[in-house]
Amino acid sequence: MTTSLTITKPDDWHLHLRDGAMLEGIIASSSRHFHRAIIMPNLVPPVVTTAEAVSYRERILAAKPRADFFNPLMTLYLTENTDPADVAAGFADGLVTAVKLYPAGATTNSASGVKDITKVYPVLEKMAEIGMPLCVHGEVTDPSVDIFDREAVFIDMVLDPLRKRISGLKVVMEHVTTRQGVDYVLSQEAGLGATITTHHLIINRNAILAGGIRPHYYCLPVAKREEHRLALRSAATSGDRRFFLGTDSAPHSDPNKETACGCAGIFTAPNTLSCLAHVFEEEGALDRLEAFTSLNGPAFYGLQPNEEKITLVKRAEPVACPSKVHTGDGDVTVFDPMFPLYWDVQ
Ligand code: DOR
Ligand code: ZN
Repeated sequence: MTTSLTITKPDDWHLHLRDGAMLEGIIASSSRHFHRAIIMPNLVPPVVTTAEAVSYRERILAAKPRADFFNPLMTLYLTENTDPADVAAGFADGLVTAVKLYPAGATTNSASGVKDITKVYPVLEKMAEIGMPLCVHGEVTDPSVDIFDREAVFIDMVLDPLRKRISGLKVVMEHVTTRQGVDYVLSQEAGLGATITTHHLIINRNAILAGGIRPHYYCLPVAKREEHRLALRSAATSGDRRFFLGTDSAPHSDPNKETACGCAGIFTAPNTLSCLAHVFEEEGALDRLEAFTSLNGPAFYGLQPNEEKITLVKRAEPVACPSKVHTGDGDVTVFDPMFPLYWDVQ
């Protein structure tokens, strides 16, 4: 039985760090285990320009524990007024790494997102020209489309036509949650990757709805049926270069989750690596964990893997993980995988 595993230090290719007291309270949960992270720009107001991304990055670095090395890779929130020249200059100067497309209304703080995709073609064409990746929240917002179908419909109605129109655009389908999403990525040889979250490998929609409504398992895209979770597990544990970890760790204070209209988001940063080692061991794929957490992401983004290593150790007794992180903005509940965790980061 494997009881210790040393891998290249992981990166998180999709992370929400928030700002202010929440940022200060939760940053260590990521900087402790991850070397780099793609930082989501959906603050209020959103991070729209390179100058805003630079100043947000400074706030992140000021909030992190001094002893931790952590390199936040910044993204810009795409709006219908985004200036292609600002995006290109930010990318050329190494100040921003990617642009994030939120369809307007799709999720938390997405009101300033894109309503009419044709309006952002000039930015996307520029990005294709300079090789800058587009991170996509892949859900349609049409209220007549069932929430469990919104990702599959997005692929057919928006993503595939967009990629055909702007060929050469490098796209990451963020937090893919369906078999259709996995199959679409697998059908494309180049220019398309996908992040997979920790929680979508562990829960299906029953976790949210069966036996009572559990807001701490609610996120967007919402967890789907079991067949989809199994497709995600097989993609993540396959080692296929097109799939990599993006935790989508998304903290909200407990009062904002435990209410009549609770926020979407699951806070997985503190125990993500323990959960992933458990999942990969269950799938007999511990030898492919490193590809998922530490190699495939940098390769997609055209970056080198980290030089540092981390060691995961399997303990004889379950590892104690705090169920909440206390922040100046209130307590945040940590993802409960509903099984004991034995893997620990040394
Ligand atoms: O569950 C989610 N939470 N999905 C998103 O797309 C946004 C995120 C957040 O910012 O809370
Ligand atoms: Zn997200």
